Amino acid sequence: MATPSFFFFFVLLLAADLVSLSISQATNATCSPPPQPSSAVPIDPNDTDQIQFALNLEHLEAELFLFGALGRGLDSVAPQLAQGGPPPVGAQKANLDDLTRRIIEEFGYQEVGHLRAIKSTVNGFPRPLLDLSSGSFAKLFDQAFGYNLDPPFDPYFSTVNFLLASYIVPYVGLVAYVGTAPNLNGYVSKGLVASLLGVEAGQDAVIRTLLYERADECVKPYNNTVAEFTNRISDLRNRLAMCGIKDEGIIVPLELGAENKTTSNILSADANSLSYARIPAEILRIVYGTGSEYKPGGFLPNGGNGKVARDFLNQS
Ligand SMILES: *[C@@H]1O[C@H](CO)[C@@H](O)[C@H](O)[C@H]1NC(C)=O
Ligand SMILES: *[C@@H]1O[C@H](CO)[C@@H](O)[C@H](O)[C@H]1NC(C)=O
Ligand SMILES: *[C@@H]1O[C@H](CO)[C@@H](O)[C@H](O)[C@H]1NC(C)=O
Repeated sequence: MATPSFFFFFVLLLAADLVSLSISQATNATCSPPPQPSSAVPIDPNDTDQIQFALNLEHLEAELFLFGALGRGLDSVAPQLAQGGPPPVGAQKANLDDLTRRIIEEFGYQEVGHLRAIKSTVNGFPRPLLDLSSGSFAKLFDQAFGYNLDPPFDPYFSTVNFLLASYIVPYVGLVAYVGTAPNLNGYVSKGLVASLLGVEAGQDAVIRTLLYERADECVKPYNNTVAEFTNRISDLRNRLAMCGIKDEGIIVPLELGAENKTTSNILSADANSLSYARIPAEILRIVYGTGSEYKPGGFLPNGGNGKVARDFLNQS
């Protein structure tokens, strides 16, 4: 059966190609967006710090994914993008099945592209000190459960553990980009953030789908399902950020599902199925694990870099 359906698909593709070719020849297809209004600026100076703020998260994702898949990070893959920042603490290759390893490798390289795109558009700052040790994740998971998991949670132990650790990361980037978008003035800034958001959202969806496939399985050796782990992490993030529910696990009560009609929750979204937005202070409360944008910790033991994060630290 596989061969004929493949052929059918191929013929369909060929036909679609011919149709699109004749359309573009007929209309002399244009690919440029309409001109910007004469009052528009490419990058407003106020955009720069807001976009640079995301580098803290992009660095975190790059190291977690590259190390998880390859056992080496930015210093090996694109050292100039680290801009001399200290190497991450405790990141290592994860024990992944082959499918997941390939997905995470791709995500890791995508983050390298994101770092390059941001730094070449609005400049940037050196990689902040990142604590990606097992202990750093274990602490967060203990906080999520309200007691110490025994044995301590090890993100690098298995595919499902690494997916749960990854559940933490692109989602925070996603809601940060949604929060940043309305505050940007420049059309280059808006275009960049929309394009970063698109891929972060895609990464989050893939991770959540892989977890959803295992939703009812226990995370060994614990007596808690994958779905419960996601709910606990999402609850913790909501508690740390202190701005209501903006984060939902993969199986939810109906009132949090799409149109109040599903308990499956592949994507975390609001009552109109729109992505939640967070401001930088909320993001920092979460990634510091302290519930305070003034108190660094967690994945960023010395705090984030850049004006937005540093302004909070200078006030503390
Ligand atoms: C830039 O930010 C400053 C300070 O917040 C504000 O006064 C100014 O109006 C902003 N400029 C634009 C173009 O939004
Ligand atoms: C595991 O969880 C199930 C369902 O919550 C419960 O019935 C069972 O007693 C638990 N087992 C252990 C060893 O805690
Ligand atoms: C879903 O339920 C909430 C209350 O929990 C309500 O505010 C909302 O309007 C409902 N949405 C739909 C589409 O019925």
